[in-house]
Amino acid sequence: MSIPLYDPTGVEPRSATDEQRAEGPLARTPDGHWMVLGHAEAVEVARDHEAFSSAVSRFLQVPNGLDGAEHTAVRVATDPFFGPEEMAAFEPALRRIAHDLVGELIADVGPAGTEIDAVSAIGAVFAVRAQTAWLGWPAQLEGELLQWMMDNREATRSGELARTAEVAQRFDAIIDSVLAPRRELGDDAPEDVTTRLMRQRVTVSSEDGEPAGERPLRDEEIVSILRNWTGGDLGSIALCAGVLLSALTTMPPVAERLRVGSYAEACAIVDELLRIDDPFVQNRRRATCPVTLAGNRIEEGERLIIHWTSANRDERVFADPDRFDPEGNAPHNLVWGIGKHVCPGRPLATLELVVLLQELLAAADVTPAETVGLRSLAPTGGWSHVPVVLSPRG
Ligand code: HEM
Repeated sequence: MSIPLYDPTGVEPRSATDEQRAEGPLARTPDGHWMVLGHAEAVEVARDHEAFSSAVSRFLQVPNGLDGAEHTAVRVATDPFFGPEEMAAFEPALRRIAHDLVGELIADVGPAGTEIDAVSAIGAVFAVRAQTAWLGWPAQLEGELLQWMMDNREATRSGELARTAEVAQRFDAIIDSVLAPRRELGDDAPEDVTTRLMRQRVTVSSEDGEPAGERPLRDEEIVSILRNWTGGDLGSIALCAGVLLSALTTMPPVAERLRVGSYAEACAIVDELLRIDDPFVQNRRRATCPVTLAGNRIEEGERLIIHWTSANRDERVFADPDRFDPEGNAPHNLVWGIGKHVCPGRPLATLELVVLLQELLAAADVTPAETVGLRSLAPTGGWSHVPVVLSPRG
């Protein structure tokens, strides 16, 4: 069977895969990797943890690059950081952050409003303030983290290893600057998420997979987890804010439901708008054995890319992918992934996005600007710029 070619370089992932899916649910990239574009196929790969390994990087990636019992142990130890009580305790601080940011944005703005970019001026600033507050990091890191986010995006896009290595090193230095004082303070370190993570223990399994004891997380594991909880996700939150505001400015009744409806309704709206335009594009896997997928033989060791943006728009599941149907589409929504690696940060990310939108819509009318927005190019999705006009409400 001949496999269609899909070159993701420099394309806009959503429209490019909308076209590509017409040729089948799988494609191959110019460097020979499998692109998993179909919904059923994405679910199959993400769920079959035996045949498809997440250990795809030469760097330690905790937990996303781990498999089996090692992965489970870290998830068991770290998922509670996103538990309902944790989220409820964080919500008031988060609301204050969103409220203050919106206040800054609309201070001194006349009734005609002010045009700003929803991704950089709202999403990125909010993401940095929210994540640093959650982790207990100094607020003074804001400027450095915002600069880092921009440099990281450019380095990732360039595909140049030296550039990506340099930004990765810079991020590790930021993480070290928050860990070092806590190590020195020992028992006197502030009781926050970062300190608790440093004290977190994981279960160790014996050869036959039975729990055999506990050990503290190693330093490099803590750094990797914190990299995961910040480095990648600051950018994702900013992109999600762009996608959501770009859609909501054209759907006033939905924006109103989000503002006044229940938290569950707001979450359902967020999930469905992100499904239609999923900015968290892809994750990688490696076949551990020969396996058949959509009638194609995948050889052991071959690389696969699960394309969430494409799977979330597969016409075989979503007859009209652009139709907004939060309830009907929820069971098939793959924005947060599926299987053992499903996003543990979902409760936090959703809370952040809902609170941001509620506080923004409560204080300001948000309308599309005349300036045209700019779509992101692979490997990110959604919008890189979403110009909107904010005017103080009433
Ligand atoms: C902002 C929107 C976000 C989206 C759309 C998103 C989406 C996803 C998806 C699709 C996966 C599955 C990866 C895979 O199967 O290989 C994932 C994994 C993960 N996400 Fe998120 N995520 C978001 C935010 C966050 C946040 C805020 C955090 C933490 C603070 C977080 C932490 C993680 C971690 C640690 C993993 C790896 C889990 C594992 O391998 O077991 N994410 N995310």
